[in-house]
Amino acid sequence: MKKQIWTPDSWKSKPKSQIPDYPDADKLQQVEATLASYPPLVFAGEARNLMNKLAAVSEGKAFLLQGGDCAESFQEFRANVIRDNFRILLQMAVVLTFGEKLPVVKVGRVAGQFAKPRSSNDETRNGVTLPSYRGDIINGFNFDSASRIPDPERMIRAYVQAASTLNLLRAFSQGGYADLHQVHAWNLNFVSKSAQASRYEDIAHRLDETLAFMGAMGITSATTPQIREVEFYTSHEALLLYYEQALTRRDSTTARQGDGYEGDWYDCSGHMLWIGERTRQPDGAHVEFLSGVKNPIGLKCGPSMTGDELITLIDKLNPENIAGRLTLITRMGHETVEKKLPTLIQAVQKEGRKVVWSCDPMHGNTITTSNGYKTRPFQSILTEVKKFTEVHRAMGTFPGGVHFELTGKDVEECIGGDQKITHETLAQGLYETLCDPRLNATQALELAFQLSEA
Ligand code: PEP
Ligand code: CO
Repeated sequence: MKKQIWTPDSWKSKPKSQIPDYPDADKLQQVEATLASYPPLVFAGEARNLMNKLAAVSEGKAFLLQGGDCAESFQEFRANVIRDNFRILLQMAVVLTFGEKLPVVKVGRVAGQFAKPRSSNDETRNGVTLPSYRGDIINGFNFDSASRIPDPERMIRAYVQAASTLNLLRAFSQGGYADLHQVHAWNLNFVSKSAQASRYEDIAHRLDETLAFMGAMGITSATTPQIREVEFYTSHEALLLYYEQALTRRDSTTARQGDGYEGDWYDCSGHMLWIGERTRQPDGAHVEFLSGVKNPIGLKCGPSMTGDELITLIDKLNPENIAGRLTLITRMGHETVEKKLPTLIQAVQKEGRKVVWSCDPMHGNTITTSNGYKTRPFQSILTEVKKFTEVHRAMGTFPGGVHFELTGKDVEECIGGDQKITHETLAQGLYETLCDPRLNATQALELAFQLSEA
């Protein structure tokens, strides 16, 4: 059989799940051309840097913290939302660094996390059925037929929002906000009123003392970028392949004079892209597309995945077995992880594949409360990460990372935790998510403490 050559649009000839049919094909083409003419959002060299960091994670020398909103939205496009999400990840990273005694690689679900896979193609309310909401980059959340029509123009708006978000994140990362001397200032107002506040302040004081000691030795913000700045990377699910393709560019720094090679392809919409649980068909469009770009990539692995399937996917996504290229993000559910994870680990061990193992304890632990809210119990989330860690320890592999849906906003969407949020509290007006329930900042910090103590 002739091997088909990869091109940025070779995915178009494969079965496409979760990608909308746009009613206006001309408009789609115009948008694709416009986006393709716009500057990339990230530089290939940055994606390579992240890959090197993830290679260290795969060897047990660093830890991956990936998190952010379930879905970014056009309405929530505000500096405070971006800052608060960034800040809670910094706080969690400090706590995890103290616990793990390892560098923490920080990757946001941000600046591109707009498209959502859906289990059902449509939604019914009060006897009216409309197409499902698929994220602001595809259609509108409002429950009327006009809003739910997929509109290609939304991709341009998402690009602009991603560019602006990334700009602010770069400013925060390098402009002094992320300086470790700011560790007290990161404490959010409502977190400072919670049970986590004193635990966090305790770590912050220890960090102060360490920094003071290092300062006396001449190691200061002025001399040491690692104290003054943070390396922060972006990621999202590469779901809407029209958008991803339009931002895929050749990296001229890897071009070769001699044989006319024009350089490696990178998806410059974000540093790391992942394949969702619903779009990981080995012969489908999403696997085809991501097999050809050189970014570090993630693969969600749910409870139905078999060892053979996983190896088939690894063969396609990382045939050269490059460390840091592939992060397996397992999302089994707290009751299933002990049963299912070992078979995947065994398959990877037997074949000698280099991967990062990360745990998404969110997507296998979603339940609906008696009063109709989609939620996730804090205890199930914690249990899945703990069991994930235990299974890896027992099998001699490194539990390299965690992947959370969280927000810096003071919402109440997941039940449990020190705040004792119940299904009744969910109805009191702080349930805001457009898609999946997120940990709020207090819960996220509580989780980081629990994990660093375990
Ligand atoms: C997600 O991460 O938002 C998501 C939809 O996850 P999964 O593909 O694992 O269900
Ligand atoms: Co989600």
